[in-house]
Amino acid sequence: MGRRTYEDMFEMMKARNIDVGNIENILPNRTSFVLSSNPNFEAPGATVVPNIRKAWQSLTEEDTREIFILGGYHVFIEALAFTTKIYANIMRKTYDCDKFFPIDIINKDYIVATGEQLEELDHLVYHKRPPITFRHRPF
Ligand SMILES: NC(=O)c1ccc[n+]([C@@H]2O[C@H](COP(=O)([O-])OP(=O)(O)OC[C@H]3O[C@@H](n4cnc5c(N)ncnc54)[C@H](OP(=O)(O)O)[C@@H]3O)[C@@H](O)[C@H]2O)c1
Repeated sequence: MGRRTYEDMFEMMKARNIDVGNIENILPNRTSFVLSSNPNFEAPGATVVPNIRKAWQSLTEEDTREIFILGGYHVFIEALAFTTKIYANIMRKTYDCDKFFPIDIINKDYIVATGEQLEELDHLVYHKRPPITFRHRPF
């Protein structure tokens, strides 16, 4: 996740009176990475990395856990180049927002695999479209 997303999450936890003093992981049972160009940025409960590649490289081959990209905007754009699956919650209500998911990319490169209608949102799972392949046949 990007630095701002982490900061929002951290502030949200504090607002909910969660003790953030000694948190082992900002997201329980997961290994979390925070992207920042500032090597001095401190992120309790996560490891700060300068780019996605660095986070990737620190994982071992034996680690088969699913990797999730949490955003924000530029992190999503960068990660969509190698992402094969998207878990999206489409909110029904309108909110006052200043950041938006690049939905046009999804519509172009992904297809809905499964969907579930919940009370306040639609939960959709998208899979990347398989590449179109052409075969030459002699006539
Ligand atoms: N609803 C959702 O699902 C969802 C998901 C994600 C975020 N959000 C919200 O969106 C807002 C934040 O989004 P955002 O797009 O403004 O910010 P962001 O991506 O969370 O954070 C931006 C910062 O991350 C670092 N960063 C991003 N890409 C990087 C890269 N490729 N290499 C190195 N560092 C990189 C930079 O930090 P430095 O300036 O320290 O270098 C950059 O200023 C928050 O309000 C958050 O809560 C919502």
